Amino acid sequence: MTDHTHTSRLPGFYKRPLAERAAIVAQWANLTPDEQAVLIGVRGLNAAAADNMIENAVGVYALPLGIATNFLINGVDVLVPMVVEEPSVVAAVSNAARLFREGGGFTTASDEPIMIGQIQVMDVEDLFVAAGAIKANRARLLTLADEVGGSIVRRGGGARDIEVRLLPETGAGPMLIVHLLMDVRDAMGANAINTAVEHLAPHVEAITGGRVVLRILSNLTDRRKASAEGVIPAAALATESLSGDQVVQAVVEAGAFAEADPYRATTHNKGIMNGIDAVAIACGNDWRALESGAHAYASRSGRYTSLTRYRKDADGSLRARIELPLSVGIVGGATRVHPAAGIALKIMGITSAGQLAQIMAAVGLSQNFAAIRALATEGIQRGHMRMHARQIAVAAGAQGAEVGQVVARLVQEDNIRAERAQAILAEIKGQ
Ligand code: MEV
Repeated sequence: MTDHTHTSRLPGFYKRPLAERAAIVAQWANLTPDEQAVLIGVRGLNAAAADNMIENAVGVYALPLGIATNFLINGVDVLVPMVVEEPSVVAAVSNAARLFREGGGFTTASDEPIMIGQIQVMDVEDLFVAAGAIKANRARLLTLADEVGGSIVRRGGGARDIEVRLLPETGAGPMLIVHLLMDVRDAMGANAINTAVEHLAPHVEAITGGRVVLRILSNLTDRRKASAEGVIPAAALATESLSGDQVVQAVVEAGAFAEADPYRATTHNKGIMNGIDAVAIACGNDWRALESGAHAYASRSGRYTSLTRYRKDADGSLRARIELPLSVGIVGGATRVHPAAGIALKIMGITSAGQLAQIMAAVGLSQNFAAIRALATEGIQRGHMRMHARQIAVAAGAQGAEVGQVVARLVQEDNIRAERAQAILAEIKGQ
């Protein structure tokens, strides 16, 4: 992360007009005029670029790009771009980051960028003999994989290990599964690992005497995890009606509920992914890969559980921690094709995939904390409906200053409904 001398603590950022916010971010990240045009959506992904990205393209589909403020990660201030359609997400995460900041910000870490590629081998006469043969050929298989490693090997990555897993009983009979572990450096690595396992397949057949079927990465990237931890002093959590101590207790209880119950853990983890996916999309990363990896990791004990942990420290502060697989890249794929993705990386000052994963972990933890704090105190609907009122007002046809007027009335009347928004708008227009 670039060592910005300026702070991500931007009080009142949300109250400024969009153009001013964009200007602050542009200055923060030294964006060129062209990059600024992409940021506000004047330029950006166009139909011609879309046509090169997917098949049967007929257009482009835009989503809001917001900036989460207040993040302090390993002592460095970070502004975080988030692409998300859901109201409250950016406000909630920024507010949570402000509270973690009071406890010194986040401490984050990430594993080496090791991806796993799988080779499925059928018709093996003796699984144990075949497994032994693969292990005896480990060094040769690693060298063969590196032959097709290209720029990843030139950058210091490459094949690291071969593992064998036996599946003696499946619906289709016994299988030998060969895992290739590969350091993919700053790539997400799907292409690299898929190329490598396809290249190894005939050699694996020759070594085992078996028949290879699938050759594909695993999205359970549990060798490529990221973690974030932070502390919030109890005093910072006090509300009008609850002491800081009571809020710490309520958050710990909410966290324990998700640890113990898969029904709650699913929703709890969905809140985590609200934040992580939004950053992934902003950076042109494959958020479905992150989703599948996160939920599989949450089930690793055999029972689906929460990806975060909340504890009360001896001094009464709240300690929060997250750990999950995060296979993200900053080179290749849409990260380079989508014009906004490069700008998102520039705003965060990112120079390695590991840094991006660490920021995402901090965002996931903040998002989760914000949700369970709201749920464990005043409930989520009050704040959420206020944000929702804006969408209702716009959907009812409010424009410009009318939006604020309709929202204020909807909230004041505690009646945030489409019909009411239409009636208020008609009144305003009639005046
Ligand atoms: C809504 O998008 C996310 C939450 O349901 C997460 C949670 O319940 O922790 C609020």
